[in-house]
Amino acid sequence: MKITYIGHACILIETQGRAILTDPYISQNPKRGLGLDRLPAINDVLLTHGHGDHTGDVVQIAEKYGCRVIAPVELAARLSSGKVKAHPMNFGSREFEFGRLTMVPASHSSSESENGNIIYLGNPCGYVIRSGSKSVYFAGDTGLISDMSLLADEGLDAAFLPAGGNFTMDPEDAVKARRLIKARITVPIHYNTFPMVTLRAEQLELLEREGFTMLLPGEAITL
Ligand code: NI
Ligand code: MN
Repeated sequence: MKITYIGHACILIETQGRAILTDPYISQNPKRGLGLDRLPAINDVLLTHGHGDHTGDVVQIAEKYGCRVIAPVELAARLSSGKVKAHPMNFGSREFEFGRLTMVPASHSSSESENGNIIYLGNPCGYVIRSGSKSVYFAGDTGLISDMSLLADEGLDAAFLPAGGNFTMDPEDAVKARRLIKARITVPIHYNTFPMVTLRAEQLELLEREGFTMLLPGEAITL
């Protein structure tokens, strides 16, 4: 399994001959590690919630590749009104071509605004992706929640945790989450993309000191 950190909450997972993309916010991301034109043919997109910094490029990608977009029920329904092939899920598991996917809770919100009105889009979520012999937790946007301790039994190979603060966990909370989850590798995401989630030098040092794997946008790891 190869995982490329594209930036913010967007990661590309290449496994079992499939290319899976999470929360595609690429073209508008000033800190993107690679552009839309550098993506492989995408098979599946996983969306965690409806905020624009997670859904920005989903329609364009879905139309280009005809890929499946897996999302919480209400967000899937909203996307299906266009040309997007959306697959609704709620908290639970299902087998897909790449392996077993579990939608897990996140403590956040999920909405988009249209003409100044907020449209609510169901529960936000995270995902556990098991493919071949590997397993990965992608937390989405979330605060620190004790549900994360349920993941300790999974023997996860990697966890991707938001750490930019303000809208999600900050580094101090991400350190606590890492200790609950006990993945072999923990990668911080959703920081330094824009001013409200920019970390101070000592916060970055905390993540490094606590054993997080720091990936720059565009960098990849192989599990
Ligand atoms: Ni969000
Ligand atoms: Mn976000």
